[in-house]
Amino acid sequence: MAEMPFVDTDIEDEFVMHASSEINIKKKRKRTTEREIEEGSERKKKKKKQYQPNYFISLPITNPKITGSIQAVQDAIRQKDQRLSKAMVHSGSLHVTMFVMHLSNEEEISIAVGALSDSKDFVEDLLKGKTVDLSFQGIDHFKNEVGFVKLAENDHATILTEIAETMKKIFQEKGILAGEERAFKPHLTFMKLSKSTQLRKQIIQQYEKQERGSG
Ligand code: C5P
Repeated sequence: MAEMPFVDTDIEDEFVMHASSEINIKKKRKRTTEREIEEGSERKKKKKKQYQPNYFISLPITNPKITGSIQAVQDAIRQKDQRLSKAMVHSGSLHVTMFVMHLSNEEEISIAVGALSDSKDFVEDLLKGKTVDLSFQGIDHFKNEVGFVKLAENDHATILTEIAETMKKIFQEKGILAGEERAFKPHLTFMKLSKSTQLRKQIIQQYEKQERGSG
């Protein structure tokens, strides 16, 4: 697949700011992509569906300096291609995911809620009275499909990673299927093509066509 438009967007230079928030637990919105529908055998699909993350622990990002700057980035992208409006994450939903998990029933949900409240003491121990001041700097993407702002690499980001790892362990020790194979990469997503199946298909087709034309 060729590069998506936002990858070229010239907006990543001056993106530095700070956040402080409360951790929360949220249900993931279910979205089945066409690739998933077409992929593999029935059994493979069933297994995948069974363990697919459906909840996540996140830090909501509500600092107006940050949300305002994100909106400016989103506006710049919209000006390049209006169709991408559909891919934008709404200001009220901006967050940094700490980890994802799969919860199958009410019992697991209440275990997870318990794990979240147990985490409080561990997190306080890690913080030792300090606050975590998150700075965001620069734009990157996952597989040309997800646009995000990167977390600046500093001591605060290191503490955030420790908090995420410690909390994930607490959930896992309670039998919750938490975490993924990939390493924790703290980021703030501001757009993702998966928000609209139709848009994703349109964009992929357009860029494949362009690639064929140029090749
Ligand atoms: O966690 P967040 O809501 O920001 O994730 C947005 C999208 O980025 C999700 O679809 C997730 O699967 C994807 N992602 C990824 N690689 C990562 C982290 C998230 O592709 N390391």
